[in-house]
Amino acid sequence: MSDPTSKRRVFSGIQPSGNLHLGNYLGAIRRWVDEQGEKENFICVVDLHAVTVYQDPDELRDQTRRLMAFLLAAGIDPRRTTLFVQSHVRAHAEGAWLLNCVTPIGWLERMTQYKAKAAKQESVLTGLMTYPVLQAADILLYSAHEVPVGEDQKQHIELARDIAQRYNHLYGPTLVVPEPMIPKVGARIMGLDDPTAKMSKSSASVRGHAVALTDSDDEIRRAIKRAVTDSGREIVFDDSPEKAGVNNLLTIYQVLTSKSQDEVEADFSTARGYGDLKKTVAEVVIDAVAPIRSRYEELMEDRGELDRLMAIGAERARSIAEPKVREMKEKMGFIVPAEL
Ligand code: AMP
Ligand code: TRP
Repeated sequence: MSDPTSKRRVFSGIQPSGNLHLGNYLGAIRRWVDEQGEKENFICVVDLHAVTVYQDPDELRDQTRRLMAFLLAAGIDPRRTTLFVQSHVRAHAEGAWLLNCVTPIGWLERMTQYKAKAAKQESVLTGLMTYPVLQAADILLYSAHEVPVGEDQKQHIELARDIAQRYNHLYGPTLVVPEPMIPKVGARIMGLDDPTAKMSKSSASVRGHAVALTDSDDEIRRAIKRAVTDSGREIVFDDSPEKAGVNNLLTIYQVLTSKSQDEVEADFSTARGYGDLKKTVAEVVIDAVAPIRSRYEELMEDRGELDRLMAIGAERARSIAEPKVREMKEKMGFIVPAEL
């Protein structure tokens, strides 16, 4: 239970499925990069979560490498962050099983992401339902204090808290109860084609929905130019549903420039309508995304280096997660041989 370091521990995860988009970058990845060093960071490419819906095997391998390369290109520094692939650390699957056995099924049936995903499928896999338990294991095995995620994950982190508390109640103090860290701005970037629905990986291939982080400068300009707005011309933060499109563009600009709302509105006070707004936002997005894209392309050429970094991350992650799962098993009454 005691914390071996004085730094706060941070854990977050991201799935190697679907196209990474601007919402992932602004709501999650950018903050993981900014916080490195200040905190002890663990970032996990959650391939075991990806297979809760069928993945083509070659595609999964490819996407896992791509996501590793992308995170490194975005600025995750393997000397300051433990960056690793979930399936490389067996303790995640084992910890998830132990936690499955302290989690009432009713808690899982209430998860809104599960309900939404299950509603879209004819046959729902058991793994999709127990997905949040695996997520809880991810976090709890590292005794993380903070979990930086977008708004959509808040319910899953609250569930991880409930699971930790229940485990501690049944077996004695073992697991650190984590806190969700949701950004004040950028936690929910909306779709460009429909600013009332969040930008999501599953819709990222729908034309006009998202800015993919691998889009060319021209594709970014085009996507933002086509973004749905309203028939007015006022460029101000306004959270009424009609202004959701403009609000979303201003939010994207605000996160990327780290300005206050007043400063952002002042920047657009002389703009001549939404065309000007879109041009400026597109350029700010390109300034952020273009350098990441070129580093990403370089990294994708060097498979040996990617494999080497994956191995280093996994080894460091195992050194934390394995003793924790062992402690959990001992507390629960398993006989744990020394060689395990
Ligand atoms: P996912 O795309 O579901 O694998 O999410 C990876 C990370 O990006 C999680 O921390 C999400 O909360 C975050 N995220 C996903 N979509 C958005 C969005 N539209 N706005 C802000 N953050 C998001
Ligand atoms: N479920 C998260 C998502 O879809 C990904 C994830 C898996 C995660 N394990 C995690 C996020 C642990 C934070 C902490 O975005």
